[in-house]
Amino acid sequence: MTADKKPTPNDAIALLKADHEAVSQLFAEYENARSVPNKKALVAEICTALSVHAQIEEEIFYPAVKKALKDKLLVPEATVEHTGVKDLIAQLEGDEPDGEMYDAKVKVLSEYVKHHVKEEQNEMFPKVKSSSLDLVELGERMAARKDELLAQVA
Ligand SMILES: [Fe+2]
Ligand SMILES: [Fe+2]
Repeated sequence: MTADKKPTPNDAIALLKADHEAVSQLFAEYENARSVPNKKALVAEICTALSVHAQIEEEIFYPAVKKALKDKLLVPEATVEHTGVKDLIAQLEGDEPDGEMYDAKVKVLSEYVKHHVKEEQNEMFPKVKSSSLDLVELGERMAARKDELLAQVA
């Protein structure tokens, strides 16, 4: 590990919350972006961040939560919401930011994500925190997987 690498939060919930915050910042930047290259670069960043985030949740976090909480509600619902998010990401990835439909897709994506994040943070995470899950161990596995996925994109 290099010395200049910024410290990753090592607790699963802190890691996910930091991701949520970073994506929300990117959506805010998009709102102010005017040039096509700028918009395109921001959307690429948003799509990568969301895809990697969704993947570590689906591969590691959600299955652990489902098991620990014996959940039959929150995780399935969150998984369905991910499908909606991924569908819009797929549309945006094949698009040029050349008109109102592109902006509309980014706007709707940001609304989906905002809704989804609210449910995770207000409903799922509090339950997870009061469960017996080892959030540090989980967070370490998620951070490692995240680095691996980001290295594939880079
Ligand atoms: Fe999620
Ligand atoms: Fe999330």
